[in-house]
Amino acid sequence: MRAEAPVYWDPQLNVYCLTSYEDVQLITRDPRFSAERVDYYISGAPAALREKLKRYDEFISHWMVLADPPRHTRLRGLVAKGFTPQVVEGLRPLVQRIANEMIDAVRADGRMDIVRDLAYPLPGIVIGKLLKISPEDTRQLKEWSDAVFTLLGAPSPDEAVVDRGHQGVLGFEEYLRDLVKERRARPGDDVLSRLLLAEEQGSVLSDAELVSTCALLIASGHETTTHLIGNGVLALIKNPDQLQKLRESPELIDRAVEEILRYNGVAYQSSRRAREDVEIRGVRIEAGKIAFGFLHAANRDPARFPEPDRLDILRKDNRHVAFGGGIHFCLGAQVARVQAQAVLDTIVQRLPDLALAEPSLEWIQSFLVRGLRALPVTFSA
Ligand code: HEM
Repeated sequence: MRAEAPVYWDPQLNVYCLTSYEDVQLITRDPRFSAERVDYYISGAPAALREKLKRYDEFISHWMVLADPPRHTRLRGLVAKGFTPQVVEGLRPLVQRIANEMIDAVRADGRMDIVRDLAYPLPGIVIGKLLKISPEDTRQLKEWSDAVFTLLGAPSPDEAVVDRGHQGVLGFEEYLRDLVKERRARPGDDVLSRLLLAEEQGSVLSDAELVSTCALLIASGHETTTHLIGNGVLALIKNPDQLQKLRESPELIDRAVEEILRYNGVAYQSSRRAREDVEIRGVRIEAGKIAFGFLHAANRDPARFPEPDRLDILRKDNRHVAFGGGIHFCLGAQVARVQAQAVLDTIVQRLPDLALAEPSLEWIQSFLVRGLRALPVTFSA
């Protein structure tokens, strides 16, 4: 598609598909494109289910990722205060400890499922730590978050998916309302308390915005990171020379994670709505229509990255778009990096002879994230 129709109208998806690096950068930065697109996400659902989707719609409409300035500026500015470099770097020893414990638990067996035993539970614990939520509660939140995300990522959701998404929203709302009340009464040093403090200093978030923003952090911080770890381990197993290089030079881990994000990233697309007719490469994107910027395609664009289909952990000038771009650049990018760096380093250094336990792998069905249902591996015990 990138070579033959880099700006392609897909009548089935009802969107323009943009696949070149340059065009993906453009739609995330050009003010002729808007991030307000809630209705697109639910437009694929059958009409009979739309009523149920109203509440869902209202819930996600407060997400900064679906908002333009000045609403976006206000929401992001407040949340960013909680994600200081100290807070994020402070997570590293915790992630390292958990990764070691998780590896200890399976090391003698000589096999594990990277997704089930490590990549799935870890991000929940980290988000729980950022928001000061107990591990039991985090597990419940993870279920709601899966339900909300599955609905968002389904091109034409059926009744079961809509029902689950609706239940997820109800669960989040009830739980987080109580949590907000509790933190207002007894603030701590967590991200939510900082948000409330910012509020007291004059920038007011409504309760609905607060609850919805917490849910966004929980939802976007979970599944993405799980799949970055899974996709990363897979990329290294399939490229044994790079795995070996990393084993010999652990200081390359930061660069390796960036290359994994480019080569085998997680988020499929940054989408935007055209505010007016915009012409790109001779194709007119009509006002009001949605354009998908496909991040994986952009990250493998030969016009931007030499030998794009090669995993090269020493790659130079590796400005990939795995975390999007422009004002919506992933707010949790550094949180995800810290986790992936600590976990992949631990796996590479502590599990020799890493290999796939089964030849075929199953990818999850989603239009938001690309990741594996399971990643069974073997190693020398
Ligand atoms: C590998 C992990 C991750 C990937 C690949 C990823 C990817 C992305 C992408 C592509 C966007 C931009 C979406 C757009 O332009 O429409 C984004 C935004 C965002 N991400 Fe992430 N993300 C990851 C992890 C996280 C984590 C751990 C958190 C929170 C702790 C997080 C929170 C957010 C938020 C709040 C936004 C919205 C920012 C805004 O609209 O200003 N993400 N992410």
